[in-house]
Amino acid sequence: MKLCRPNLAAAASRAASGSMKAWLAESPTIGITKINHPIPTLKRPNDVLIRVKAASVNTIDTKMVQGYGDELLGIWHKAANCNSAASRFPMIPGRDCSGTVESVGPSVHSLRPGDEVIAVVPAIEQGAHAEFTVTPDTCCAPKPRNLSFTEAASVPYVACTSWASLVTFARMNPRKKPSERVLINGGSGGLGTMAIQMLKSWGVEKVVATCSKNSFELVRSLGAIPIDYAAPNATDLLIELAPFEVILDCVDSELAKWSDHVMGTWRNCVHVSVVSPLMSDTDRYGVITGLFSTAAKHFNRAYKSHMQGRWYTYAYFMPNQECLLQVSKLLEEGKIKPIVEKVYKFDEMPAAYEKVSYLHGKGKTVVEFD
Ligand SMILES: NC(=O)c1ccc[n+]([C@@H]2O[C@H](COP(=O)([O-])OP(=O)(O)OC[C@H]3O[C@@H](n4cnc5c(N)ncnc54)[C@H](OP(=O)(O)O)[C@@H]3O)[C@@H](O)[C@H]2O)c1
Repeated sequence: MKLCRPNLAAAASRAASGSMKAWLAESPTIGITKINHPIPTLKRPNDVLIRVKAASVNTIDTKMVQGYGDELLGIWHKAANCNSAASRFPMIPGRDCSGTVESVGPSVHSLRPGDEVIAVVPAIEQGAHAEFTVTPDTCCAPKPRNLSFTEAASVPYVACTSWASLVTFARMNPRKKPSERVLINGGSGGLGTMAIQMLKSWGVEKVVATCSKNSFELVRSLGAIPIDYAAPNATDLLIELAPFEVILDCVDSELAKWSDHVMGTWRNCVHVSVVSPLMSDTDRYGVITGLFSTAAKHFNRAYKSHMQGRWYTYAYFMPNQECLLQVSKLLEEGKIKPIVEKVYKFDEMPAAYEKVSYLHGKGKTVVEFD
């Protein structure tokens, strides 16, 4: 405890002076630097100022600080700020966190200062890799009381992405025991481990996940059937377990592409991929050409599936309070558990970014603040 006191005192004095410690990407070429930055202010009536206790590092953070999505998110950012000159850089990354509510806007009635929350931060806003962040109240839910801030921070972004993929895009119904059988390509990472757990908690009986051999135990412990994506007979094993009504790609591999073969046909089956070319193509070719190029890639991939009554779609992270509330409750009931692979200190943020950028996560990487 004694060790914490100087840090708390320093944080309190920074807060009193209106500044905070933050990791900032000045431009897409520089990487992140630790700086003192003004504490963000509430802009909208439903905004919530959160004192961040822990934040996860997601793959999107490692890419956004290098300019990923700048074309499309830049337009959205300009429109949201009604300012054609507004730029996304300098940018504070960090799309989710846990923490305590510091202050709320006049139309926020469900949260009060001091409440412990989990939250996601929309992609056009300054993020949570800072001592304070601002997000709408609809992006917050109560922190599960049985979890530490570090454990709780591992959940919000991957939960909302899993929900968007499985519920919004694949049209699964988590309120009515879904009957679909699901295959997850890349099931052992941050997103895959959350998707498996959400599916199992909804009552889905058969969840199969591809992963490397050394992730078998993890995937099995979550209730899914692991298949080694590098095994020479991986396709035979998947055929034995088929057909699947929903396939979720957390990886864009040859096996993921091939897995259309193990989908049911003429049963409204949906193949969802979170690895979409939308951001990279709009960055590379500009918005109009990038949108056309993404649509062409989607069409090229989807048309054969459509002819057989299947659906192929890209999916994206979307903030969703219904998801956050449900997941918070499931965590508190012990039906979902946080899978934290590695914890870093605030000052070690660049090392956390490096780890996450390799795309070989076994659960989540979380950064805890002082
Ligand atoms: N569209 C969106 O809004 C959105 C949102 C979130 C994430 N994503 C994307 O989703 C992907 C996964 O994110 P994540 O956070 O889960 O990353 P992660 O934690 O690094 O997990 C990646 C997983 O993929 C596995 N993997 C690697 N190669 C594979 C292969 N050939 N076949 C099967 N599995 C393979 C890895 O397992 P091994 O280490 O065992 O190989 C690892 O478990 C990223 O590309 C990310 O950008 C998109």
